Amino acid sequence: MAIEPATQSSIQLAAKVLAGGGVAAFPTETVYGLGADATNAQAVLRVYEMKGRPRFNPLIAHVANREAAEAHAEFNEVARKLADAFWPGPLTIVLEKRPGSGICDLVSAGLDTIALRVPANETARGLLLAAGCPVAAPSANRAGHVSPTTAAHVAADLGDAPALILDGGHTTVGLESTVVDLSGPEPLLLRPGAIPREEIEDVLGKKLGEAAISNQPSSPGQLASHYAPRARLRLEATSIEPGEALLAFGNTALSTDGPMVNLSPEGDLREAAMRLFSALRELDTSGCESIAVMPIPDDGLGEAINDRLRRAAAPRGC
Ligand code: TXA
Ligand code: MG
Repeated sequence: MAIEPATQSSIQLAAKVLAGGGVAAFPTETVYGLGADATNAQAVLRVYEMKGRPRFNPLIAHVANREAAEAHAEFNEVARKLADAFWPGPLTIVLEKRPGSGICDLVSAGLDTIALRVPANETARGLLLAAGCPVAAPSANRAGHVSPTTAAHVAADLGDAPALILDGGHTTVGLESTVVDLSGPEPLLLRPGAIPREEIEDVLGKKLGEAAISNQPSSPGQLASHYAPRARLRLEATSIEPGEALLAFGNTALSTDGPMVNLSPEGDLREAAMRLFSALRELDTSGCESIAVMPIPDDGLGEAINDRLRRAAAPRGC
């Protein structure tokens, strides 16, 4: 299986894979991405196929810096403000796509907008510089499953389908980027994520609007069932039932002889975010039928953690 520790030479190799129309997985500070040259429709199609991702769910285009981003989208003042404040970093900005950007329509699933991100992770930045093209990359998991925070998670979901998996260790943030839509008159929060809403609102000097709920979600990260392990989740658990595994948070008297992970005994939301997806995978492999999840505060990063947990708990198959 082609898992390579991230080094100068393996990053060059991954860049060659992308240049040749192949697919390579790589770490970002949030989760691992499954990358392809965003200007190559055949390569992008392979990404959709490998993930089993519906074609109506657009991908994020990753670029090395804001100058590169401006070649692909119509930046406005608000976009520049957020980019200056949070790039490189775990913020994705949706903007009107620029004519002649070169990014193929499949990346944005036929929308007039494009989602752009400049990641901070050194391996990701090295790859983007070496590749010299925008890199379309969804999270490197099977569609609907828990996002990968290690190279082993990627291999567990996708096997040897990607030509190469760059191993950069466990991701430091552990939750996906925050997605903000700046293509309309008001900034909208499409997906809560690694940068808490409050930090973005502080920079904007105003509240973020919510994307309207509809049958055709404007950001399919809003699909009800997503990020789901095999086991069922029972949220807001204050007790544990026979046969359940426990996903704990903070200093708790709840305990079990069965499988258990405490996301952060100190009650630190950053630590909890980093460990969430690993913990769900770990409890899942214990073979339990159900996971009792203790309440997690909803402020700061808690909003994104609770968003992922609700989707992981949602009824499947819709
Ligand atoms: O942290 C992350 O964002 C990771 C790393 C790899 O960058 N990527 C990631 O990608 O989570 P993915 O494909 O799993 O989620 C991208 C989200 C989806 O909810 C998608 O619907 C939304 O971004 N999105 C992409 N393009 C969009 C667009 N033009 N308009 C609205 N939403 C868009
Ligand atoms: Mg994803």
